[in-house]
Amino acid sequence: MAHLFTTKKVGAYTLAHRVVLAPMTRLRTIQPGDIPSPMMADFYGQRASQGGLEIVEGVSISIPARSYLGAASFYHDGQVEGWKAIANAVHAKGGRVFMQLIHGGRQSHVEMTGGVAPLAPSVVPFDGVALTKDGFVPASPHRALGIEEIPGIVEEFRVAAQRALDAGFDGVELHGANVSARSRRQRRAGTRRRGLPQIARHRIAAACAQGASGKACNRSACNARAPWPQSVEGSPATLTLTAP
Ligand SMILES: Cc1cc2nc3c(=O)[nH]c(=O)nc-3n(C[C@H](O)[C@H](O)[C@H](O)COP(=O)(O)O)c2cc1C
Repeated sequence: MAHLFTTKKVGAYTLAHRVVLAPMTRLRTIQPGDIPSPMMADFYGQRASQGGLEIVEGVSISIPARSYLGAASFYHDGQVEGWKAIANAVHAKGGRVFMQLIHGGRQSHVEMTGGVAPLAPSVVPFDGVALTKDGFVPASPHRALGIEEIPGIVEEFRVAAQRALDAGFDGVELHGANVSARSRRQRRAGTRRRGLPQIARHRIAAACAQGASGKACNRSACNARAPWPQSVEGSPATLTLTAP
């Protein structure tokens, strides 16, 4: 507690204090299209502070990555202005804002995924729910992700990260549950300890280092934040990358 109002370095940024807003899914996008709403800009602007940091709610990287109707996503151009308004609202008060990128994995329903079976590292019995226009419903049966499909999903993470930076976000955080962390399938394939967020981390960092796309990459040294936090299962939970 004594250190709460002391500075803290996060990647390239020095925060003025350590009160950080955790990512919280709020189901406040405009439908259809998961358009970030003015209410979301108000919400994040209200919680911004000089030198503070906010991690924006889990943002799905693609249509098959969606889980809950109304939750955030960032995979099409119609969402850009809404996300820019959110970044601007935080910056107007002197704060920093990261976007948490997420793949819902098996916790979804065909209504949310564009009609395709939800993806997971392995097929493992699951009694989770998804939120659709009919309310909370049992998750649809999922299918195992093929090893050859992983690069495509990593690329979706990279593109979403680039979109976030282009919209003015100061960094991204990769959510590490559901489809990603230390899956059985990945263990079988000999890639133990390299779940999707870790692979994506290297891919995103490499793309930024190459300066692949103008404006965003000019300020994208993509530093990993500290060690990986551990989830309750002992799996990597999140990874934060910053774009100075
Ligand atoms: C309504 C709600 C939505 C949440 N959504 C997310 C999310 O999108 N991504 C995530 O990583 N954690 C999410 N969480 C977890 C929080 O970020 C946080 O880890 C959790 O509330 C525990 O924090 P605490 O120990 O400070 O209470 C959510 C929590 C709540 C209450």
